[in-house]
Amino acid sequence: MTNNIKISPSWAELTHKLNKDKGIIMVIGASDTGKSTLVSYLARELYNKENKVCIIDGDVGQSIIGPPTTIGLAFIKSAIKFLHSIQPDLMFFVGSTSPIGHLLPTVVGMKKLLEKSIQNGMDITIINTTGLVSGQVAWELKYQKINLINPKHIIAIQRFREIEDILRPYKDKTQLRVHRLAVHEKVKHKSQEQRRLYREQRFKEYFRLSKEQEIHLDRITIINPYHISIPTENIFEKDKNIDKNNHTAQETIENNFQGRTDIPQVRQMVTLQGLLVGLNDEDNFTIGLGKVEKINLQRRTITLLTPLSDFTKLKTIRIGSIRLD
Ligand SMILES: Nc1ncnc2c1ncn2[C@@H]1O[C@H](COP(=O)(O)OP(=O)(O)O)[C@@H](O)[C@H]1O
Ligand SMILES: [Mg+2]
Repeated sequence: MTNNIKISPSWAELTHKLNKDKGIIMVIGASDTGKSTLVSYLARELYNKENKVCIIDGDVGQSIIGPPTTIGLAFIKSAIKFLHSIQPDLMFFVGSTSPIGHLLPTVVGMKKLLEKSIQNGMDITIINTTGLVSGQVAWELKYQKINLINPKHIIAIQRFREIEDILRPYKDKTQLRVHRLAVHEKVKHKSQEQRRLYREQRFKEYFRLSKEQEIHLDRITIINPYHISIPTENIFEKDKNIDKNNHTAQETIENNFQGRTDIPQVRQMVTLQGLLVGLNDEDNFTIGLGKVEKINLQRRTITLLTPLSDFTKLKTIRIGSIRLD
């Protein structure tokens, strides 16, 4: 796949301009317009021209840096290949594979990662975005992202004039240059099914070497934006009297509470299971992802399936809104 990438003649000229006027570059366009391909090309070319280059991949669905649901940042350290996945240096968990319903973490995460890029003295930061370009939500998201990030360059890739509406506010801006590109004729369309399979594949790769890990609830804070109820007390304790037959805690819970979805603690045991979570450090950067296996109310632990093995920096577990099977 990667060998078949055709370089458009306009890309060299664009690289030349970006190399002369370095700074923050944002690439926008609908799905399947060649954004990720162009981002890899520019990162490679600008890195080869001795720049300190960083990519921030804000496409939480079809990500090339880090697993889906995260915004990934990579400092480019060697000549990268087209569309090959790149190991992230930093991640920010957004909670879903689409920014819709997660607009605040999408924007905040992007800004926090951009600050890291600036702190690390990058000459050029290339920001990849999702293909969400039509509708009011998309317009506002792009508008506020550009407002906050203040890029020097916007590279706008379009088939017809589908993102002109998004570009309208920048017509006369002196500090921001819009570079319009046509979609390369070789760009291939991906079906919804292919996109889903890609995400599945990326998750599979990410979780390939994962193990069950039990974490005590007292040493972390659960960030629960969707208000899924989490036990704050040991419900087993309350029912000590029931446990005359030496049942295990789990059995007792199962025997006495099975199907009792009116009891919040039971409901959460059902609903939390399988949810994707972000394992965050004290600055809210994501050191890993996990999948909730179970919560043990007696031991006050949460068991996750995760490839992360060093939990020293873990401070919060942020509940996401997608379930993995
Ligand atoms: N210049 C190109 N030459 C050949 N194939 C391309 C080119 N640009 C993109 N493609 C192909 O088209 C598909 C979509 O491109 P991609 O960069 O992933 O788009 P987007 O990030 O906008 O969704 C990919 O499979 C990619 O291999
Ligand atoms: Mg892409």
